Amino acid sequence: MKAIAIVPGTTDVSLIDVQEPQLSAPDEVKIRMWQVGICGTDREEVSGGRADAPEGQQKLIIGHEMFGQVVEVGSAVTKVKEGDFGVFMVRRGCNQCEACRNGRSDMCFTGNYTERGIKGADGYQAEFVVDKEQYLVKVLPELKNIGVLTEPMSVAAKAIDESLIIQQARFRDFDKTENWLQGKKALIAGIGPIGLMAAFALRLRGAEVIGMDIVDENTLRPSILKQLGGKYLDGRKTKTTDIDEVCGEADFIFEATGIAKLQIQLLDALAINGIYVATGIPAGDRPISVEAATVMQQLVLKNQVLLGSVNASIHHYEMAVGDLAASLEKWPDAINAIITEKVPFKDFDRALHQHNEDEIKVVVEWQ
Ligand code: BGC
Repeated sequence: MKAIAIVPGTTDVSLIDVQEPQLSAPDEVKIRMWQVGICGTDREEVSGGRADAPEGQQKLIIGHEMFGQVVEVGSAVTKVKEGDFGVFMVRRGCNQCEACRNGRSDMCFTGNYTERGIKGADGYQAEFVVDKEQYLVKVLPELKNIGVLTEPMSVAAKAIDESLIIQQARFRDFDKTENWLQGKKALIAGIGPIGLMAAFALRLRGAEVIGMDIVDENTLRPSILKQLGGKYLDGRKTKTTDIDEVCGEADFIFEATGIAKLQIQLLDALAINGIYVATGIPAGDRPISVEAATVMQQLVLKNQVLLGSVNASIHHYEMAVGDLAASLEKWPDAINAIITEKVPFKDFDRALHQHNEDEIKVVVEWQ
């Protein structure tokens, strides 16, 4: 079968022939790939950045945002049957720590986890894939046009879920509301795919959403945000340190830019008792100078939480499927507009390297 592979640490990316995987245990599921999304991590990998081949291999098959259809199941599989749609998760646990042993490899303590398509395990840019049922999340057929958004939505779901749990625990003596986000002001920095997924999830939970980016207001991404009832803030017109004056302080900040300097500056817009979750992974090593005393003084005197969030557990994937279904019902045009380009796998080079302003999610088609 065909697959897209890189030589990690280089810009060498090519279509290769590999053996089609077969079921080898009763708890395995074989999936025919439909689509695999491209994200910032893939683009970093193909430009020689963060990526590791499986042990003993020179090449790594890339791709971690998959969606496909079940073609074969082992005798012990109960979750899905042939013809169902599904998504395999990204991370595989180290099997050494408590988190990984309890199905939370997204919180791995040792760092010895692998990630399909990223770190030490082949990914999903291939015609077929086989893996264990425990890593599979079933996706309803109604979602087949947007099922490939499950993984990016799961990343947003985890960041939001963790933030909610923390806030609810901190305020338990005086705030018994089940959904802390209801009516809260949420600032999303960076309305690319992850930021927009967060916008859907936050609007579904009743938050007031302000999305910030550096594109013109009349372009696609701000327009999707507005379809959900969100507001757009042009980051080129407002200094980061003035955001609170323009929009008011945010109870919740969801960061999805991966720009280190902005990540730190954004703290200025956070309200008393607010929570700020960062999901962007900055690359490079450009030094920045920080007014450390001001930042830390504010964090302490305002009881603020600064949280990092990466990857997602199966629970967050399930939340993601639920949020995609709810978004499709409430804002069908907006959610369908997220996939801006479908590129046949033979044109992988274009999918990986071309970038245009109105691009949100580019997916590689394998069917
Ligand atoms: C993926 C995550 C992964 C992270 C770190 C992101 O692009 O969506 O699943 O854990 O990269 O490798």
